[in-house]
Amino acid sequence: MTSRGMALATMPETGTQLSVGVLTADLTRLGAEMEVIRGRPHWAHVDVMDGSFCPQLTVGPLFIKAVASTGVPVDAHLMIEDPLGILPDVVHAGAGIVTVHAESGRHPHRALQELTQLSAEIRPVIRGYAINPGTPVQVIEPVLDLIDLVLVLAVNPGWSGQAPAANTARRIAAAREISRTAGHPVLVGVDGGVTLANAAEVASWGADLVVSGSAIFDGKNTPGNLSAMLAALGASRATQTTAITARTPGGSE
Ligand code: DX5
Ligand code: ZN
Repeated sequence: MTSRGMALATMPETGTQLSVGVLTADLTRLGAEMEVIRGRPHWAHVDVMDGSFCPQLTVGPLFIKAVASTGVPVDAHLMIEDPLGILPDVVHAGAGIVTVHAESGRHPHRALQELTQLSAEIRPVIRGYAINPGTPVQVIEPVLDLIDLVLVLAVNPGWSGQAPAANTARRIAAAREISRTAGHPVLVGVDGGVTLANAAEVASWGADLVVSGSAIFDGKNTPGNLSAMLAALGASRATQTTAITARTPGGSE
């Protein structure tokens, strides 16, 4: 099985995977909040923002380590100007998915090479590549051999309360088509603006991974929100993905 094949296999073929944005959880009770979601969604989505790539300044590897220590697999979304320097800390912190942005820094290809190396040397991770709503989907083509997941941003990162951009469905389809035509099929995810009201429509866009934050951790009824979101996405209630199977990215077929 190719390294890509193994990467795809680490996400159970159980329909849409849910990644719950944790920054709207009650961070003074992180352990308890993670306990509420443990075992049900497949990932805890941690939005790392540097206040420069996008207007908010949020968390970093120490927070990733704290979430990973609760046993909920971490999906780290790096919305930062230059991920090159932080990648080792993010992988060491225990992230199972590490996503860098196509718009980050001058050398996104180099960052993905670095991530591939870290995945081979430290611990296998799913290598994500995120594209903002205004970035042509074609940018994924030059790096398809270095990624396992394309994360399609449905909103402009860092501004809350946005609805998914009207171009999202076609961008998900384009990412799928470009990667398949190139012979490098990848997972496709969607992130931002996913609510209980639009979840069924979002699921119909065919993403493998759906990120939803404030619709789940709304300070009122996280368990109920989670059940409703899983039902709307048609995701399996199988326990979450814990192990990323060992693989050698770019290794033998
Ligand atoms: C873009 C981030 C998203 C976002 C979650 O800002 O990548 O993960 O915070 O958005 P909501 O809360 O809309 O699900
Ligand atoms: Zn995100």
